[in-house]
Amino acid sequence: IKIKLNYEEKLTPLNDLYGLFFEDLNHAADGGLYAEMIHNRSFEFCKFDNPTYHSLYAWEDVKGEDIQERSVELRILSDDPLHPKNSKYLKINSLNEIIIRNRGYNKGLYLQEGEVYRVSFFAKPDFKGQKVTLQLEDVSGQVYSETTVKITEEGWTNYQVEMIPTQTVVEGRLALIFPPVTDLAIDMISVFPKATFKGRKNGCRKDLAEKLAAMKPKFMRFPGGCLVHDGSLSSDDHDSMYRWKNTIGSVEERPTKRTAWGYNQSLGLGFFEYFQLCEDLEAKPIPVLPAGWDPHHQRGVPFDELGPWVQDALDLIEFANGDVTSTWGKVRAEMGHPESFKLEYLGIGNEEVGQEFFDRYVYFHQAIREAYPNIKLINSSGPFSAGSEYDRGWDSARKQQSDIIDEHYYASPEWFLANHHRYDSFNPKGPKVFLGEYAAKGNQWWNALAEASYMIGLERNADKVALACYAPLFANIDYVNWAPDLIWFDQEKVYGSINYEVQKLFMTQQGTYNVSFEIEEMPDSVILEDNPIIGEFGLSGDWADITIESLTVTDKETGESIYYDTQSIKDNQQKILGTINSKHYTITFDFTKTGGKWDKGFKFLFGRKDDQNQYGWS
Ligand code: AHR
Repeated sequence: IKIKLNYEEKLTPLNDLYGLFFEDLNHAADGGLYAEMIHNRSFEFCKFDNPTYHSLYAWEDVKGEDIQERSVELRILSDDPLHPKNSKYLKINSLNEIIIRNRGYNKGLYLQEGEVYRVSFFAKPDFKGQKVTLQLEDVSGQVYSETTVKITEEGWTNYQVEMIPTQTVVEGRLALIFPPVTDLAIDMISVFPKATFKGRKNGCRKDLAEKLAAMKPKFMRFPGGCLVHDGSLSSDDHDSMYRWKNTIGSVEERPTKRTAWGYNQSLGLGFFEYFQLCEDLEAKPIPVLPAGWDPHHQRGVPFDELGPWVQDALDLIEFANGDVTSTWGKVRAEMGHPESFKLEYLGIGNEEVGQEFFDRYVYFHQAIREAYPNIKLINSSGPFSAGSEYDRGWDSARKQQSDIIDEHYYASPEWFLANHHRYDSFNPKGPKVFLGEYAAKGNQWWNALAEASYMIGLERNADKVALACYAPLFANIDYVNWAPDLIWFDQEKVYGSINYEVQKLFMTQQGTYNVSFEIEEMPDSVILEDNPIIGEFGLSGDWADITIESLTVTDKETGESIYYDTQSIKDNQQKILGTINSKHYTITFDFTKTGGKWDKGFKFLFGRKDDQNQYGWS
C-alpha cells in the first residue's frame, strides 16, 4: 500500500492525559512496590484475611517448616502492645535456644552481595541484657551476614542494624536466634534495602519504581480499585474500608487490614508514601476515597452519619495542601514534608453503579466544592456505560457538575478496535472522562496493538478525555489475583509487558499534529500472514433476538462453503457457527429481527475465538 501523509491541524494538548493506576492487588504493594522484605512483620495475619493465614504465617523453623504458636515458647499476645492499632506481638519463652526465620515473599528474600540492608525490630524484654542474633542466610541455612543485638531498654524499643550480605542470595531468609530466654516480646521485624527508589526510608523497591519513572506518567491514581470501597463501616477494625488516616504516621502505629484481594494489607505504603512517590515520579496525585458505601457487601453509612467520612475528604485535602499551621498540614510536616503535595484532583468512589453511592456522593461533592472550589472532583461510573443517558454515574456527574467522571472497561482487542470512535461524539463541555481502568484483556501483541489504536482515539478526543490509565499496573507472578497486568515481577526480577511498552511509548512520545492520509496505491487484496480471524468464529446479537435465515462462508482459495440454515440467536447470546481455515473468505447472511428490548436497532457482531478461549467481537 502506498500512502501519502498530509500534515494537518495541531492536536488538542494532551495535558495530564496519560498516567498510572496503582492498586495493591496481585501483591503489588506488600511483596511488590513497597520495599519491605519481611512477610507478616507484625504478626497480624489471621484467617479473616485468608483461610490459609495464621499469626505466624511466613515464619518457619530452621528446617523450613511453618511454625505455629506453641503454648509456652511462641505465643501471640496482645496485652500491652507496641501500639493499640498494631495489637499483636510475639512473646518468646524458652529453656533452649530458639530460631525463627522469615521466608519473605515468593521463594525468599532477594539479598544482593555488597548491598546494605536495614534490619530492625521492636523488643520489650523481661530483663535487660538479653541478646538476639540476626542472620541473613540462604534457604539451606548458609549464613552471609550476622550480627548480635543486645536488648538494652526495658520498654518497647526499636533496634536497628545495617547488614551487608557477602554473596547474592535469591531465596534468602532472615533468621533470629534467641538464646534461652524468658518473656521477650518482639514485633515489627523488618528488612529494608537501603537503596530504595530515591533513597526514601520506608520507600519503594527501586527496580519496580524505576519502571514507573521510565514511563514519565502525568498522574497516579491510588490506592484502588475495589479495595477502596470494600470493607466494614467502622473506622478502625481489621475489616475497615480503606480509611486514609489509618495509613499515615509511623508504620508501627498503623493497623493492617483485610483487603478485597484475599490477603493482608500492611498499609506500610500509605497515603504519605503515595504522595511522596507521586512527587518523585513528577506525577500528579489522584487519591480515591470511599463514599461510605460498600457495593461488595451492599452496606452503607446512614446519611446522618456521613459527617466523619466527608470530613476525611476535607482533611485529606488539608493534609496534602494545607500549610504547616493547619491541623493536617502539620501532620504532613511532622512526617517530613512541610511543602504542599499540590493536590489538584480527588476521586470519590470506585466503579460505582448503585444509586446508594450517588445519593452519598452529593454530600461529598457539595462540602468539597464549598471548601475547596479549585479541586477537580472525579465522580464514578460503572463499566461500559460511558455517556449513556441511562447511566447513573453520568446522570449524577451532569447534575452535580463533577469535573470528571471515571469509567472502566476490560474488553477484547476487537472491542477496542470497533469502539475506536467512542469519544468522537462526546460533549467537550460536559464532565470530562477519566478512563481510570482499561485493558484489551491480554499481554500479547494483538492486545497491545488494539490498546495503541484506542489511545490514538483518546488523543484525538483530548478535549473530552482528560485522564487515562491502563489497569492493573503490577502483578507479582506468585500471587496473581487478576491478569493481564502491565508489569510482572518476582522477588528478583521485573518485566514490562508489550502493553507496558505501548503505554511508555505514548507517555514519552506525544503527538502534536493530526495527520490525514491518502491511499495512492492499493493492491487487490491484502494478505495477512497471521490472520486473526482464522479459527473458530461466532455471531452474537446485541440488544435484539435475531434469526439468521441463511449464512454462507466461502473460502476464497478453495471455493468451499460452510453453509448454515436457520439459527436463532437471543439477545446477547453468543453462538459458535464453525471454523474458517482460510485467510480469504466471504461471508453472506440473511437475517430477521424476531424480538428484543430495543426498537431503535441492534448490533450484529462477528468474531473469532482468541487464545484465552474468549470471543472478540467486531
Ligand atoms: O483493576 C482490577 C479491578 O477491576 C479494580 O479493583 C476494580 O476497580 C475493577 O473492577
